[in-house]
Amino acid sequence: MKHPITLAAILTFASLSSWAIDPFTVELYQTSCKICHAEAVGGAPKSFDASAWAERLSKGKEVLLANAIGGYKGMPPLGMCSDCTQEDLVDLINYMSSEKAQ
Ligand code: HEC
Repeated sequence: MKHPITLAAILTFASLSSWAIDPFTVELYQTSCKICHAEAVGGAPKSFDASAWAERLSKGKEVLLANAIGGYKGMPPLGMCSDCTQEDLVDLINYMSSEKAQ
């Protein structure tokens, strides 16, 4: 297994209510995910557009995390963030899928 999903990552999802935006997450978003997700390039769900994410989120965040790690259609593995840990990706998905979170 190249990127096993750790219990810690799942627990991060479980504690979503206490999640707050970390400036580091914003930085990772701007350097990695924004390039495609800000303008919905290639059909990417648009950042901070809850309706664009609703259908994705209905698959379950574990599925979204797995697809972010392994890649999914036009979505490159790790979203081109080779330094991102699973926890970073969880934070990024939460950040991008929430309504204008900045
Ligand atoms: C090169 C462009 C590109 C970059 C960079 C990118 N994405 Fe994506 N992403 C996409 C596209 C395109 C899709 C839609 C794939 C589809 O459903 O056809 C997508 C979909 C997703 C999904 C939904 C997957 C699903 O199962 O529906 C997640 C989660 C995601 N991206 C997270 C991220 C994160 C986190 C980053 C930054 C670390 C990132 N992406 C960077 C292009 C990109």
